Amino acid sequence: MLRVYAPATSANLSVGFDSLGAALSPIDGSLLGDVIQVESIAQGFELESAGYFVRKLPKEPQKNIVYQAYVLFSERLKLRNLPVRPLRLTLEKNMPIGSGLGSSACSIVAALVALNKFHDNDNNEPFSKMELLEMMGELEGRISGSIHYDNVAPCYLGGVQLMVQSLGNICQNLPFFDEWYWVLTYPGIEVSTAEARAILPKSYTRQDMIAQARHLGSFVHACHTKQAQLAALMMKDMIAEPYREALLPNFAEVKQATHDLGALATGISGSGPTLFTIAADLSGALRLTSYLEKHYLQNNEGFIHICKVDNQGARVLD
Ligand code: HSE
Repeated sequence: MLRVYAPATSANLSVGFDSLGAALSPIDGSLLGDVIQVESIAQGFELESAGYFVRKLPKEPQKNIVYQAYVLFSERLKLRNLPVRPLRLTLEKNMPIGSGLGSSACSIVAALVALNKFHDNDNNEPFSKMELLEMMGELEGRISGSIHYDNVAPCYLGGVQLMVQSLGNICQNLPFFDEWYWVLTYPGIEVSTAEARAILPKSYTRQDMIAQARHLGSFVHACHTKQAQLAALMMKDMIAEPYREALLPNFAEVKQATHDLGALATGISGSGPTLFTIAADLSGALRLTSYLEKHYLQNNEGFIHICKVDNQGARVLD
């Protein structure tokens, strides 16, 4: 039996729509992500689901993204003339769906990593990292309406990933600021990624394109040259935030307040509604947490976690 954990992710980092994503884990050691267990059975395939958010999963098993991950993985194995072993997958659905924390990516990544390890033959997993990542992107695309890797890539590989999608690399690791504290606040309401993408404009002005290029270029430069203040300042979103903020509770007011409380940067995590805000130290993160508890949580489903970048990504649990 094998258990694989895949962490929460925050896509976009404001400045890198569909191009940047970070894996994040709570500093208290709790597991903010999904877990997949895989075990041998006598024949065939079985899928079971458990966990707090299991009630939000599609009722028909064929619509469950883990089922689809199994089907895709099996098809690819057969193309290589490799046998598919009889197995049972159990999904522990800990991540809220439509939260902006890469919930579908967590399930997809944990499932494919577990399947690849389960089919290991003499220390040879059937698929390479990039092959597996390509499958993850395809599955993510089925859910959100278009293929983007900014959740699955950091979820799988850890750290902050930049989608280069060139020269055989889907993504590359970006040096980042491990000392930063990320406060993730999920308000408890659901926002569909497909809908949050549908409301975006089809085109942008040349002026916006130039500013966007300057921000993203400067951000990546700041990461490589360890200029934390410049990197934080460049985390600006001209592509999605102006259009998506209407989907979030009091976003503009809350963002301003986090800034006044000393946040280095605040933005929408993925397609929302989770808000991320970054603090330079733990006391700043605690200050932001107590404000956000009162002003951004909407119901009992909501939660706040103080996190750091998770440089490990998906991993086998003991
Ligand atoms: N980059 C994606 C978006 C992330 O913002 O729509 C959500 O999966």
